[in-house]
Amino acid sequence: MPVLRTATDDDAKPLAQLAEATFRDTFAAVNSAANMDAHCRARYGEARQAREIADASMHSFVAEHDGALVAYAQLRFGPAPDCVRAVHPGEILRLYVHRDWHGRGLAQRLMDASLAALRERGADIAWLGVWEHNARAIAFYRKFGFTEVGDHVFPVGDDPQRDLVMVKSLATDGKNSTEE
Ligand SMILES: CC(C)(COP(=O)(O)OP(=O)(O)OC[C@H]1O[C@@H](n2cnc3c(N)ncnc32)[C@H](O)[C@@H]1OP(=O)(O)O)[C@@H](O)C(=O)NCCC(=O)NCCS
Repeated sequence: MPVLRTATDDDAKPLAQLAEATFRDTFAAVNSAANMDAHCRARYGEARQAREIADASMHSFVAEHDGALVAYAQLRFGPAPDCVRAVHPGEILRLYVHRDWHGRGLAQRLMDASLAALRERGADIAWLGVWEHNARAIAFYRKFGFTEVGDHVFPVGDDPQRDLVMVKSLATDGKNSTEE
């Protein structure tokens, strides 16, 4: 089974490679090559992932198997869309598993680690954006108790796509946060 751990500086290059490969694997069939290239140039690369790993307002997890990264999740603490009613929102920015590992429980381990880390950092609500047609990911998030509260635009190149915004309460009593 892959080992799940917090990313270090040394992971920047393999994380960038995995992030781009899994993004392309998930979305290349439904986007133009130009938009995929533009998105990957803007979001992935060793320097960019190195900054993200070092960013104190983020947390990056990687899963390693036989010396290779096979999955990752990145959390971000900061502003959330208006439809996310939280005092301290915590975002699951990216959660990607290599296709060889889909359906094998690794995504669940990553999600458990992500939710625990969000709680540890004081988040009361976990939120994320997911492409409206990404049925498997939406089903996965629903299994964890995420519900849809709105939408936002996620540009892929010059294509303004619609992402569903989903939230999950991290309050231990299971209630949604209502404080302003
Ligand atoms: C989304 C992801 C992390 C989920 O991990 P996973 O290991 O595939 O998760 P699961 O096998 O538990 O699948 C989740 C649920 O999706 C549903 N599902 C499975 N295959 C499906 C398919 N081909 N189409 C639609 N739904 C599907 C099932 O309900 C499944 O739950 P169940 O097996 O308990 O019934 C993983 O598929 C992935 O990395 N996908 C590519 C990257 C991605 O889309 N990331 C999210 C970006 S927001």
